[in-house]
Amino acid sequence: MHELAQPISVLPVRALRGELAVPGDKSISHRSIMLGSLARGTTRISNFLRGGDNFSTMAAFRAMGVPIEDDGQTVTVHGVGLYGLKEPEDVLDCGNSGTTIRLMTGLLSGQAFFSVLTGDQYLRKRPMKRVVEPLAGMGARIAGRGDGTLAPLAISGGPLTGISYSSPIASAQVKSALMLAGLYATDETRVTEPTLSRDHSERMFRFFGADLETCHNGVVVRGGKELQGQEIIVPGDISSATFFIVAALIVPGSELLIKNVGVNPTRTGALDILLAMGGDITLLNQRDISGEPVADLLVRSSRLKGIEIGGDVVPRAIDEFPAISIAASVAEGTTVIRDARELRVKETDRIAAMATNLRAIGAGQIEETEDGMLIQGVASLEGGSITSCGDHRIAMALAVAALVSRNQVQIDDVSCVATSFPGFFELLDSVSVR
Ligand code: S3P
Repeated sequence: MHELAQPISVLPVRALRGELAVPGDKSISHRSIMLGSLARGTTRISNFLRGGDNFSTMAAFRAMGVPIEDDGQTVTVHGVGLYGLKEPEDVLDCGNSGTTIRLMTGLLSGQAFFSVLTGDQYLRKRPMKRVVEPLAGMGARIAGRGDGTLAPLAISGGPLTGISYSSPIASAQVKSALMLAGLYATDETRVTEPTLSRDHSERMFRFFGADLETCHNGVVVRGGKELQGQEIIVPGDISSATFFIVAALIVPGSELLIKNVGVNPTRTGALDILLAMGGDITLLNQRDISGEPVADLLVRSSRLKGIEIGGDVVPRAIDEFPAISIAASVAEGTTVIRDARELRVKETDRIAAMATNLRAIGAGQIEETEDGMLIQGVASLEGGSITSCGDHRIAMALAVAALVSRNQVQIDDVSCVATSFPGFFELLDSVSVR
């Protein structure tokens, strides 16, 4: 079903002040439904992200016979065990969610039934070969459009054999798809990657009692071992927090305390980047919750300077480049982003989308490169009309830009924001001083 376009105009603010908490982590919420469903016993999840992407994952498991209740506070998953999923009667719709479709492709490859995965107009354009090819190496039978490279994907599940796969890209979705397939494979399944991508799957597999070992940039899963249901408290999503961090840094006179944010080191690349740009960000009250590190973040407005961004930090900040490019657009000097080719195959081509939109709101010189961009900072942005390209993070990044623009920023459609951050505009309003 198509949602109606929701245009919005975002106005500049005088400052951002106060305390807030962002919704639960999207990656961890997906994995808690998946592992909870495959476990024996009950899994209770609090601070679950009630966003479109996670509802797609929840609906898929319900369609495979997993009882999942949501009372608005706690999500309760009545696990059916590793071999308890049932053949879904209909196509499983993953909506806009790359994590749902890629991880499920791995999981479904090892089931004793047939299934079909599809998604929205954006997801059906995103590359699936990165999971289909290594899974085929394990014996998976997957057909799809474009010679098996695009959704819809039709999966004839069956026996799998573990492989040792050296992934050419640092992708948690690829790694996790193979780890889930590995639960059903004979022998061990080993995945290594050029740099370590987010390790939520490794942490949660361990938390649920899977047979798993990690080594330098790699993981080994041995299948067959039953998982046990757990209590999970999902930390706030650092990717959502980053919009507020950048906003507080660039709007003069701001101070925000963002409570309960996940600070897993494989996700904190944006903090490192913004600190290197001169951002005043302090981590307070650091603690561990459900096997994940968490902290409160105190952010004060700062004079940012342009820097060079590339190498190992890129996968650790991969979802944060729309927000980072807004910080760069008002920083002193030039910011160079490289080694970020992956941005071209996200919910939209985020390099092209940010370059076009930054130009549309009167940013300085912007140069697109194949694997990144050059952004020359200016003292202030003009404002204007932009398109979200149906991408939640492009929409939120441009809303942040509006806060420091001379005029309003009109965004053509923000219905996409609900995929990862329901309530974003209300929360932004609640800390805005006008
Ligand atoms: C995710 C992995 C990343 C990230 C996405 C969520 C995950 O994608 O961009 O938003 O939950 O595993 P890639 O694996 O394609 O880098």
